[in-house]
Amino acid sequence: MASSQPPQSLPRHVAIVMDGNGRWARKRLMPRGVGHKAGVDALVKVVQATADRGIGHLTVFAFSSENWKRPEEEVSGLMSLLLVALSKHLTKLKADGVRIRIAGDLDNVSEKVRNALRDAEANTIGNSRLVLTVAFNYGGRWDIVQACKQALAEGVSASELTEEVLSRHMAMAYAPDPDLFIRTGGEVRLSNFLLWQSAYAELHFTDCLWPDFDAEELDRALAAYARRERRFGDVGESGLGEGAIGSEGGH
Ligand code: FPP
Repeated sequence: MASSQPPQSLPRHVAIVMDGNGRWARKRLMPRGVGHKAGVDALVKVVQATADRGIGHLTVFAFSSENWKRPEEEVSGLMSLLLVALSKHLTKLKADGVRIRIAGDLDNVSEKVRNALRDAEANTIGNSRLVLTVAFNYGGRWDIVQACKQALAEGVSASELTEEVLSRHMAMAYAPDPDLFIRTGGEVRLSNFLLWQSAYAELHFTDCLWPDFDAEELDRALAAYARRERRFGDVGESGLGEGAIGSEGGH
């Protein structure tokens, strides 16, 4: 039976867990920091490829709430790398029409990093070709809790608290929910990334280590996405065919 693929086969929003930098470096007998540096280079290319394909939102997990548990040297290396990456790539990203936004708890990062991230946001505020959200000191559970706290602070009562109200307080309320969630590096888990927002995201896991992820790998993920039948809990057209009655509801 033909699939009920919706006409819009290009995701509006792609989210990526960029995993595998450490293993990429280890395979080359290099320190993990070299892998993270190669990860930044991959990211810059993927941002370009995403914008070129007409996708409006790209969200990347750059530093998770849990990454503080890594050795101090690696954490400070990632912070320095972020500062270097911003100073090296911001001008070009801005010229390419990329708007940078940050999702995460910036209260608990150094003032230097916080200012650099806020400056990048302010600097690119006029752009709209691609919104690149950098999830930094981000965790999906943190996001849900902070959204609840904001709603409570606004005086929203328990009976007024709906999915819509909470969605408006999530860190990425400005973006459509991710349609495609990609994780590189071979692990098959969400790792506390965009838990609320990815409720109906199509998941794509690849063994490709993040520094090796490129436009071709992105196209592979987009092609896999385009073949999926998205039902959002409905039965979809194919579910209405013979034998559909009494079958499981769509998920
Ligand atoms: C996971 O690889 C990757 C990260 C924890 C950081 C991702 C960061 C970048 C791609 C660079 C851009 C971001 C900043 C902060 C400059 P891993 O170290 O867990 O790899 P492994 O699973 O192979 O050990």
